[in-house]
Amino acid sequence: MADGGRYLVTGGAGYVGSHAVLALADRGDAVTVLDDLSLGHARAVPDGVTLVRGSLADAAVVERVLSDGPWDGVLHFAALSLVGDSMVRPMHYFMANTGLGIRLIDACIRHGVRRFVLSSTAALFGRPGEQVITEDAPVEPGSPYGESKAMLERALLWADRIHGMRSACLRYFNAAGADPRGRAGEDHTPETHLIPLVIDAALGRRAAVAINGGDYDTPDGTCIRDYVHVSDLASAHLLALEQLDARSVTYNLGSGHGHSVLEVIRSVERVSGRPVPHRIGARRPGDPSRLVAMSERLRRETGWAPRFERLDEIVATALAWREAHPQGYGDR
Ligand code: UFG
Repeated sequence: MADGGRYLVTGGAGYVGSHAVLALADRGDAVTVLDDLSLGHARAVPDGVTLVRGSLADAAVVERVLSDGPWDGVLHFAALSLVGDSMVRPMHYFMANTGLGIRLIDACIRHGVRRFVLSSTAALFGRPGEQVITEDAPVEPGSPYGESKAMLERALLWADRIHGMRSACLRYFNAAGADPRGRAGEDHTPETHLIPLVIDAALGRRAAVAINGGDYDTPDGTCIRDYVHVSDLASAHLLALEQLDARSVTYNLGSGHGHSVLEVIRSVERVSGRPVPHRIGARRPGDPSRLVAMSERLRRETGWAPRFERLDEIVATALAWREAHPQGYGDR
């Protein structure tokens, strides 16, 4: 339901951020996106939404945007988010995600922001066991990326205790799919995410998919992830914002279903009706064998229910967007 609010969305031109912007705009809220477009796309920002092109590293821009308040909430998506990349340049992740994130939190506190939503990650659970992961599972990041977000979660805890700024930490599992109305989709350069790569192989735009390890301790030897539709992630943000009138919250956000890399390949083959050439390659450093969410707390406390439960449905929306946008947003 629209609360007629004004929201600032950092990274709102990115993959998950742009879908959250659509959800806010669809219900009639006024949205401003702050994005440096280093990874995001101006075309992912819908008409009627203000786009400020600027970096979180530019303190003057952050001040100027926050001064244009009051804001009913800040949703913070702008970040680096690749597990493998963070294993190669860890300090870069701590500076970009933790350092700039803490500067943003500090600026929000100074400008009287009362509600803050952090785009957090399942990657802060680095060594999960066989069970689905609840919010109470120990935070033991297996990569600098996961650690960079875990530190922001801790900072937000103190921002609430000392300054009363409420926050929602939403730990996404594997965001996937595209806006069912085709208004936004997944476009990374270079693309490293499994589903778009597998789709490109099915469409003949890529020779084959290399599976990152086939000797994991899983039934078929490939890594298991919990793929959750990006529009379902977006709707969770709106519900989480409502909780912040009462208290800060932390939610794991996944479908609760785990799928191996090979199962994703089979799903794309089913949905597209085309074969996906693939081969088993080396493991990718930083990859946990299995990450599957227990999202019961979110469902119970907010009434969230994913609209896209089955992997094939998620893949179908990703395939539709990719077929309609062979060059993605066409700006790289
Ligand atoms: N994979 C392959 N071959 C590829 C690409 C990926 O086998 O060509 C594998 C990965 O090793 C992993 C799985 O497919 O086992 C999914 O990989 P993605 O790169 O699509 O996603 P990740 O699980 O690495 O990470 C994603 C986001 C993170 C987020 C995490 C949460 O990129 O930001 O999900 O689980 F933290």
